[in-house]
Amino acid sequence: MLATLLTAVVDGLEGALVRVEVDVAPGLPACHIVGLPDTALSEARERVRGAIRNSGFEYPARRITVNLAPAGRRKYGAAYDVAIAVGVLVASGEVRPRGPACALLGELSLGGTIQPVAGVLPMVATLARAGVQRVGVPAANVGEASVVEGMEVLPLARLEDAVHVVAGRADRRARRAIQPPEVALTGIASTSAAGSMTLVGEEGCVDLVEVRGQQTARWALEVALVGGLSLLLAGPPGSGKTMLARAIAGLLPPLDDAEALEVTVVRSVAGLLGPGEGLCRRRPFRSPHHTSSYVALVGGGNPLSPGEVTLAHRGTLFLDELTEFDRNVLEALRQPLEEGSVVIARAQGSIRFPARVQLVAAMNPCRCGYFGDAERPCRCSPGEPERYVRRVSGPLLDRLDLRVEMSRVRAADLLHGPLPESSSEVAARVAAARARSRVRNGGRLNAGLTGREAEESCRLGRRARGRLADIADARGLTARGVHRILRIARSIADLDGGDVVGESTVLAAAELRDPAALVDPALAA
Ligand SMILES: Nc1ncnc2c1ncn2[C@@H]1O[C@H](COP(=O)(O)OP(=O)(O)OP(=O)(O)O)[C@@H](O)[C@H]1O
Ligand SMILES: [Mg+2]
Repeated sequence: MLATLLTAVVDGLEGALVRVEVDVAPGLPACHIVGLPDTALSEARERVRGAIRNSGFEYPARRITVNLAPAGRRKYGAAYDVAIAVGVLVASGEVRPRGPACALLGELSLGGTIQPVAGVLPMVATLARAGVQRVGVPAANVGEASVVEGMEVLPLARLEDAVHVVAGRADRRARRAIQPPEVALTGIASTSAAGSMTLVGEEGCVDLVEVRGQQTARWALEVALVGGLSLLLAGPPGSGKTMLARAIAGLLPPLDDAEALEVTVVRSVAGLLGPGEGLCRRRPFRSPHHTSSYVALVGGGNPLSPGEVTLAHRGTLFLDELTEFDRNVLEALRQPLEEGSVVIARAQGSIRFPARVQLVAAMNPCRCGYFGDAERPCRCSPGEPERYVRRVSGPLLDRLDLRVEMSRVRAADLLHGPLPESSSEVAARVAAARARSRVRNGGRLNAGLTGREAEESCRLGRRARGRLADIADARGLTARGVHRILRIARSIADLDGGDVVGESTVLAAAELRDPAALVDPALAA
């Protein structure tokens, strides 16, 4: 007898429909899976047999053939286990399907429990687009599956639950037995296999009230967050660079509906959603370690997975210890940073992942960390600080909009200074300024303005224009450099609530752009 069930596969960030056909025929006991399965999928044979037997059903001692259609598309992973197992039971006559069709997703353990799988959100969305109205998903994936409108989502904890659902028996009983976990609207912090740190929730987030001194760096961070501009923090060890960056997650406004969906899809495919977690409202903050490989940062691998630059989409990519990153890996980031997306070439055609990130980087000014320090001598040999900075290519440094030098916090500031502003106060200002700029820019942040748009939106007066021209001449700035100053100036003015960018704002913006201690001629571009 032949059984047909519906399930889905993810390809990149998109789902695709897969039909599982199971034929149980007389013959020597065997099970074959055809339709371009990968190793994990071929091993489904063993999981399915174990799960069926350990769930109290009979595994047919006949010839079983499982076909995954369309056969031309490569299938990977273990998300088809449940559909295959139920297919075997239907085809062997053990279970009689009744009621409306129900797609099934989930990995089986040998004991018959159903394990969560990655990519449930895009898979369920694809099923919904194909007209499927019911889907059984692992109980831990219910949160993300419920994000899809118009789909009845049934939580599955064990193989019996899936059987009940397909047999149209005890729908209610199954649902009563398995309490779907509460859908969390905010994210959690987790550590991915690559050793990188993701911070989507509160955990690990620093409040600005803890950061003493560093007025310029705090202000630069605020301006950068308003404009969605990239930021480089350079300074000696222990000056608070990492601390300041870790405050970012608590300073940005939550994602809107469309952005939240994009971020949740990426996290779903990367398998980063926590049990029961639904739509993510917090902006991602990704801080990959400097030993991260090209694939970890940019994406790729087999099966294809998104890299850090995509996991940070709509949020922040923080490259701490910038000079320690592999130069080729950093160079590979230039194109995604420019285009807001990353293209990954594969044998089956290239694929595009979103990568609209705000880049924040931190570095020491030299190997010993004290180049330019007023009190502590730099122990580097002559020329070494320049070579150290040049480890990061000039074009990449040039792409960082704001570049701030931090110095050591004086003990007096640390111990006796007034308590600085907290994150909530700064976040309120940032949110108001971002809202102002979005209204003016047709929904975009200042980082998204073209050069001409930046010029127009600044509405420079005669004096401000003259001042900018002087700065550009003195520093030998290219048009790109001038436009970067204008985007910074526009963001400062948005914070102040001003329509017109005045002369002092232009000066302040130029100050935030130019790092005097980063002695590299390439920076003058
Ligand atoms: N501005 C500051 N205000 C309060 N505490 C600070 C400040 N700067 C540093 N500290 C303290 O020093 C610790 C180290 O700071 P942080 O890791 O941010 O330094 P860093 O600049 O990133 O140094 P490195 O170059 O070594 O990475 C912090 O955890 C905090 O306790
Ligand atoms: Mg640090």
